[in-house]
Amino acid sequence: MKEEALQELKEQLEKCRECHLCEFAKGPVGWFGCADSPIVFVGEGPGGVEDDYGCPLIGPSGQLLDKALWATKMTRDRVLTTNIVKCRPKGNRTPNLAEADFCAQRWLEKELAILQPKVIVALGSVALHYLGNPDMRITRDRGKWFQTRQGYDCIATFHPAYLLRLSDPHVLNHAKWDVFYDLEAARKKAEEALPDYQFMSAEKTNLFNLFKKR
Ligand code: URA
Repeated sequence: MKEEALQELKEQLEKCRECHLCEFAKGPVGWFGCADSPIVFVGEGPGGVEDDYGCPLIGPSGQLLDKALWATKMTRDRVLTTNIVKCRPKGNRTPNLAEADFCAQRWLEKELAILQPKVIVALGSVALHYLGNPDMRITRDRGKWFQTRQGYDCIATFHPAYLLRLSDPHVLNHAKWDVFYDLEAARKKAEEALPDYQFMSAEKTNLFNLFKKR
């Protein structure tokens, strides 16, 4: 039921040319994962590898996210990952607030209305600013529960790309543990809401077996 509604939405998304972001992208990148997942991870927007494969969080950030998910007993096939903006901005720049709002109101809101997640994890500032508000700061507000405008329980954590940029080993180690505790808190809250849900498959999901270059 949710799966079919998502499929229909994806077909509409693939045709979207409503803003300028698609001008330099191969095409919109939708979501990936299980439609019944009580937990949804929201990133920023596709990077180069995501644009090539049409899959969210499949490149270096996604590989790191997968490791963090595995450490907190989740796999990509059992959760759902998506982004605030669906098209890769030219030169991989960060989408601005207006671009984030324009895209998320058209697509992410519809995804969430179908999915009705128990918990949302905002990955990084762009997701935090949209799901929370633009005054929130990832360094100050990560790891704290808040409700989105639509009433979803949401927690923010560092974006994996931020971890990949950290060069000081002490700062990196600290930030990795922060992410671990944030993801664990998110899984536990989702588990309380849906105790019988399996958050993990026996093996990590190999997205490169599932998606081909487009
Ligand atoms: N960063 C994101 O936030 N999302 C992606 O899909 C890839 C990189």
